[in-house]
Amino acid sequence: MKAVVYDGTRRVSVHEVEDAALLEPTDALVRITSSALCGTDLHMYDGRTGAEPGLVLGHEPLGLVERTGAAVTRVGRGDRVVMPTHLFCGVCPNCARGLTAACSRIRPGAFGAAYGYAGMGPYRGAQAELLRVPYADANCVTLPGEPGDRYEDAFVLLADAFVTGWHATELARVGPGDTVAVFGAGAIGLLAAHSAVIRGAGQVYVVDHIAERLAVAAEFGAVPVDFTDGDPVRRIREHRRERGLPPGEEGMDGVDCGIDAVGFQARDRETPGRENPRQVVDDLARLVNPAGSLGVAGVFAAKDLDPAPEGHHDGSIRVPWATLFDKGVHVGFGRTHDRRYTRLLRDLVLNGRAQPEKVVTHHGSLADAPGLYDAFDRRADGIVKAVLRP
Ligand SMILES: NC(=O)c1ccc[n+]([C@@H]2O[C@H](COP(=O)([O-])OP(=O)(O)OC[C@H]3O[C@@H](n4cnc5c(N)ncnc54)[C@H](O)[C@@H]3O)[C@@H](O)[C@H]2O)c1
Ligand SMILES: [Zn+2]
Ligand SMILES: [Zn+2]
Repeated sequence: MKAVVYDGTRRVSVHEVEDAALLEPTDALVRITSSALCGTDLHMYDGRTGAEPGLVLGHEPLGLVERTGAAVTRVGRGDRVVMPTHLFCGVCPNCARGLTAACSRIRPGAFGAAYGYAGMGPYRGAQAELLRVPYADANCVTLPGEPGDRYEDAFVLLADAFVTGWHATELARVGPGDTVAVFGAGAIGLLAAHSAVIRGAGQVYVVDHIAERLAVAAEFGAVPVDFTDGDPVRRIREHRRERGLPPGEEGMDGVDCGIDAVGFQARDRETPGRENPRQVVDDLARLVNPAGSLGVAGVFAAKDLDPAPEGHHDGSIRVPWATLFDKGVHVGFGRTHDRRYTRLLRDLVLNGRAQPEKVVTHHGSLADAPGLYDAFDRRADGIVKAVLRP
């Protein structure tokens, strides 16, 4: 089968690799119809996380079941399915509580796993013609329709980007009427903003410095804030005061809920040409109101081969802990428990409440992957989310 393979820092190629196959009776073999690129792939592409050359990339699969092992009963040949990025067993104590990203059986000696990701288990990636899906009864989420129909882009976002955006709003405890600031207008931040609006947030701000991405934020009903126009914390507080705060709440001109959808490769605001992994966390700590909540969905990698001066090889950074303590801020972290949300978000798509496909800007075949990785890494050509159709 053809697959997108990591060759080394900022190098991917597309070539023949051994076909994915059924290895266990609980496996399914899925023929991929769409498979998206993600900011998470770029942490590897940039040579930061120690991915081994030869790794088949990709963790956002949508496709048709081609074959199933003898023990698979819920899905069969021809079913249209999306698979959560963070694969899981479905029955261990953590899966039973819906905490699928912390599955205790899927990666021996550790918790959780992902397709095509360095250090996240032996599972090959989904930017390929075929994918082996372990524990297929748990991992395959069935979908209506046909490949290439009007839901194809929305459905591929159910693997990771939309569920992570939604999860970020869970971590940040976004509820009706809340004021929300999302840092990062990649697919994750934009879909966190979309999720916040769907959940009834009163006002949503999205901070970034890429005009095309901020324009999508506005389409989702958020107020775009370009950080190159000045300190976004000051500007959001000004905007809140200009719109008018309720009497007695003049001091609450920050936000109730803050979301980090950037992670450790955050740009330094003063010098956007370099990284500063502390930038977004520092800004959010300043911006969130007393007793507010923060959700950190951006990745902080446990191994960074080339850390910025404010970072560290082991991923540790300095955080304004005392500010967060003084304010009594709730902080939530981590990988998405995808399977908690896939059905809910699928149904929001089907009933027309959600249009996550607005973040998809580019399509290509597997052969287009090297060019799309290069443009995406430079955040060039207006690219927000690229989907490969093998
Ligand atoms: N928690 C999870 O399960 C999970 C799942 C998927 C992705 N992620 C992570 O989410 C993050 C975003 O993913 P993406 O696909 O949207 O990536 P992306 O790289 O396309 O988007 C990141 C955006 O952040 C912006 N940015 C950089 N520095 C900033 C700053 N100081 N302030 C505001 N914005 C800034 C960039 O301009 C860019 O638009 C990545 O770290 C990715 O690994 C986490
Ligand atoms: Zn992803
Ligand atoms: Zn499990």
